[in-house]
Amino acid sequence: MSSANGSDELQAAVTAHWSARAPLFDGVASHVAQRDLWRRVLEAAFQADRPRDVVDLGCGTGACAVIAAELGHRVRAFDASPEMIAAARRAAEAAGVEIGFEVAQLRDIAAEEAVADIVTLRNVLWTLERPMEALRLAHRLLRPGGLVVVSDGLWSVAPRYRSTYPADVADRLPLHDGLTEEMARRMLADAGFTAFRSWQHLFAASPYPGEVPVFVLGATRA
Ligand SMILES: C[S@@+](CC[C@H](N)C(=O)[O-])C[C@H]1O[C@@H](n2cnc3c(N)ncnc32)[C@H](O)[C@@H]1O
Repeated sequence: MSSANGSDELQAAVTAHWSARAPLFDGVASHVAQRDLWRRVLEAAFQADRPRDVVDLGCGTGACAVIAAELGHRVRAFDASPEMIAAARRAAEAAGVEIGFEVAQLRDIAAEEAVADIVTLRNVLWTLERPMEALRLAHRLLRPGGLVVVSDGLWSVAPRYRSTYPADVADRLPLHDGLTEEMARRMLADAGFTAFRSWQHLFAASPYPGEVPVFVLGATRA
């Protein structure tokens, strides 16, 4: 069956993949191994001088959500995988922060409009069947002048970062090889964003082994 954010069957395979990985995900995660660095980069990218309403889309184990909450922001976080959300809840509890977590596919939160000052999407675009839909959702969720912060990488550079999706799943994800900052800028512009500002220079080297080219890109909802 088709849906706004891809076929249900494909999404079920993607969600099952992340649910299976959830218990071990933080053992290899860059945001855990280099937590202070990610915190500095996200704090700079948020450009916030006071607490803001933040929505983290595809939050996984809570990488952006927990850091945003630690920085004093009011955070809601969504992920399709119940196991990822359970891990994220534990991470928030361990960090002593409150976050409104919800198990939800991106297509199911599309009805909410202009509720956020900042929307984060870290390492999510590459694993979506329709990544543009996620950027349009971010645009809808943001108040005018709000900021989207997208981070992702060119994962094909480092074979160890290849997903273990079966070929029939990987083939249907248009950004499965990863993406560059240039690609992200074009997509964000198509979704109605402007005033781009990148932050990856704050990493002395790629935060991912294998020198995966990574970007952290902020853009404003006009
Ligand atoms: C590579 S992980 C990134 C997690 C987190 N953002 C991070 O930076 O560590 C991708 C996440 O996207 C979630 N995801 C994939 N498709 C989704 C969808 N359609 N709706 C919501 N979450 C989705 C997966 O369950 C997974 O937790």
